[in-house]
Amino acid sequence: MERRIAVVTGGVSGIGKAITEGLRAQEFRVAVFDLDADAAAAAAGPDGLGVAVDVADARSVDAGVAAVHATLGPVQVLVNNAGIGGGPTAGRCHETPVEVWEHVQAVNTRGPFLCSRAVLPDMLAAGYGQIVTIASINGLVVLPGRCAYTTSKGGAVMFAKSLAVDYGRFGIRSNAICPGMVRTRWWPPGSMPAPGRGVLDPVGSAGGTGGDRRGGVPARRGPAGLHERRGLGDRRRLDRAVAARVGGA
Ligand SMILES: NC(=O)c1ccc[n+]([C@@H]2O[C@H](COP(=O)([O-])OP(=O)(O)OC[C@H]3O[C@@H](n4cnc5c(N)ncnc54)[C@H](O)[C@@H]3O)[C@@H](O)[C@H]2O)c1
Repeated sequence: MERRIAVVTGGVSGIGKAITEGLRAQEFRVAVFDLDADAAAAAAGPDGLGVAVDVADARSVDAGVAAVHATLGPVQVLVNNAGIGGGPTAGRCHETPVEVWEHVQAVNTRGPFLCSRAVLPDMLAAGYGQIVTIASINGLVVLPGRCAYTTSKGGAVMFAKSLAVDYGRFGIRSNAICPGMVRTRWWPPGSMPAPGRGVLDPVGSAGGTGGDRRGGVPARRGPAGLHERRGLGDRRRLDRAVAARVGGA
């Protein structure tokens, strides 16, 4: 059977790395787009392709997709996962430097747009495609003190909906996933809430409520539970979500 081709952006670390591993376990050949070529190649594995791509840059994305097309073939699955929080100055509206705002929007919303735009011609030609955008619970519920991030993830959710409406009739599905707190490098040791409900692990479930976010923005007990109910829950749910979207097990 011909192996399917997937592109995962930000596939070197955290959620993207777990998705890459899941797709590889389902016999996909995966192209990893990330900032460092060597790390991307290591994540993609010997039968995949690692490409240094800045998802915020149109030329970089177009070159990356052209490399995938030439090396692996047409793309059937795109996972728009690369994302940033913007760092400590990406706070409330009046505190956020313009260039930080622009960078967060560029990676978190322009990135999914550029990558989708680049793979859609292949998908339209095939009459089949799956685009999964990793948004955030903060695309649905405001994260206090993180104006740029919250706005960007709201945009990512609506972007995914826009694709679904425009391309569903052509056999191309688009979905946004809105995780709650997931234990990745975003949460340095000691910054995660204590075990309990509400905190997820990209390679297994963990838990927690309360505690403080990095940057001193307080985590909220109620929404942490909400995150869990609306989020992915655990690795099995992540696997099922991805597998269902791409037609796997
Ligand atoms: N960790 C959480 O609690 C959490 C919660 C909700 C949503 N998310 C979302 O999940 C996604 C992944 O988050 P994570 O926690 O795994 O983060 P992470 O930092 O572990 O991984 C992000 C990856 O994206 C890459 N990346 C960053 N900017 C890039 C760019 N311009 N071009 C290409 N690659 C780039 C990084 O190098 C990294 O490998 C993000 O979109 C994030 O907003 C995370």
